[in-house]
Amino acid sequence: MAAETYIHNGPLVIGAGLAGLSVALHTAPLKTLVLAPVALGVACSSAWAQGGIAAALSDQDTPEAHAKDTLDAGAGIVDPLAARTLTEMGKHVVKQLSDLGAPFDRNTDGSFVLNREAAHGLARVARVGGDLAGKAILTAVADAARNAPHIEIWEQAFATGLITSPDGAVIGAVVSHEGKTLHVYAPVTVMASGGLGGLYAVTTNPPNLRGDGMAMAALAGAVIADPEFVQFHPTALNVGLDPAPLATEALRGEGATLIDKNGVRFVLEDHPDGELAPRDIVARAVHKANVSGRGAFLDATTAIGDHFPAEFPTVFASCQSVGIDPRTEPMPVAPAAHYHMGGISTDIHGRSSLKGLYAVGECASTGVHGANRLASNSLLEAAAFGERVGLECAQTLSDTPFTPDTAAAAIPALPPVLPPETLQSLRDAISRYAGVVRDETGLKTLLEQIEDLEKQYAGSLALINARLIALSALRRKESRGSHYRSDYPMLSDRAQRTFTTWSQCSATT
Ligand code: SIN
Repeated sequence: MAAETYIHNGPLVIGAGLAGLSVALHTAPLKTLVLAPVALGVACSSAWAQGGIAAALSDQDTPEAHAKDTLDAGAGIVDPLAARTLTEMGKHVVKQLSDLGAPFDRNTDGSFVLNREAAHGLARVARVGGDLAGKAILTAVADAARNAPHIEIWEQAFATGLITSPDGAVIGAVVSHEGKTLHVYAPVTVMASGGLGGLYAVTTNPPNLRGDGMAMAALAGAVIADPEFVQFHPTALNVGLDPAPLATEALRGEGATLIDKNGVRFVLEDHPDGELAPRDIVARAVHKANVSGRGAFLDATTAIGDHFPAEFPTVFASCQSVGIDPRTEPMPVAPAAHYHMGGISTDIHGRSSLKGLYAVGECASTGVHGANRLASNSLLEAAAFGERVGLECAQTLSDTPFTPDTAAAAIPALPPVLPPETLQSLRDAISRYAGVVRDETGLKTLLEQIEDLEKQYAGSLALINARLIALSALRRKESRGSHYRSDYPMLSDRAQRTFTTWSQCSATT
């Protein structure tokens, strides 16, 4: 069936998590089309976030202190301007989300209930309904988007490639919607498609999040930044489920400890801050405990005990579903792919290297997270940079009719989809060789496996991302933040980000 042409005279937003919807809520009066791959408000990483949203809200806190913690956690490669831009918007973003109806937890004096999380100098994470922050915030934002007259939402709609003009600008996307393929042209396209945890066999991300947006942008020629930096959450429930249920870091903030099968607290052996050490250090300690046979368990029995169901309803329900009672017994845990610091390279306005293409949220890489994102900065980033991108679109786009030269446009073919068992073997290999601990031999083995699959499935979006991650991890001969090389365990003196393109990666090992 021939694809239909659809010309949209306003921003096209690919993705409907907190980042995409925040863009759309700020583009008025421009008509804005949002593609939601599933029903609005569910199955995006934002809706699954538990801990909350980091912001300098208390009298003891400042955006400068928040920026400093962001820089320190990011292991030397956080962009300071991006960090300040983000943290200065913290209070404003929380107020805006609260005004939209997100019911933030409050103390009796009306101040926000704030949790402490790893690598934060003080309690700074505003929570909603205990561990329901993402769900509650997404519900409020999705309701606002549904009611905004300038926003049109297509549910069950996803992009499969970016359309470019002869001068290399992005002028829209190939979209699959209601069983039809459409060529949707738009004066600007905003990629807000989320992360890529689903490329890993063990992940806390919703299924099907495999970084398609980054791969589509790479194929269109965009610069990709830091693809090797994948953050592993230290405490996913290790109960054989895919995706692995998250046991929020806020549990450790409340005093839950990490113990081995003999009840010994083991993270203190690697870092004086123990359970509240930076996330990459805790993830490696948990990984080491599991592979050595010591075992890793999160023990909340003393610190939280009977308060568990009320304080952490999501984690409690996950535990109950597998027959664990966290009030009385430690939870088995393992690290899981959780967040991608890398992505489509952008400036602090969300502009990518390609005219017509913005990126925001997890699929983007402003440099704000460096090599290791500070806990609970992701919801803030999605809302803050989403607003910035939306306002930038509203200020720079006019409502003059968009008249693309559709005859001259380059339309990408539908990418091949890996059969389920092939995808699973790729996910296993990525987890094994480009996971918490990496080395040259493993990364080369992974690249050989990718090359083999490319013979049959060239252009697969999952394979493009796998190659970008594996090759950049191989080229980074140091350990920094979430990227740990057992053969190069030291931090190099030269703190550098990775900037690459698909043409620099597609043919090289
Ligand atoms: C968590 O609740 O532990 C996750 C928070 C985050 O990834 O920022």
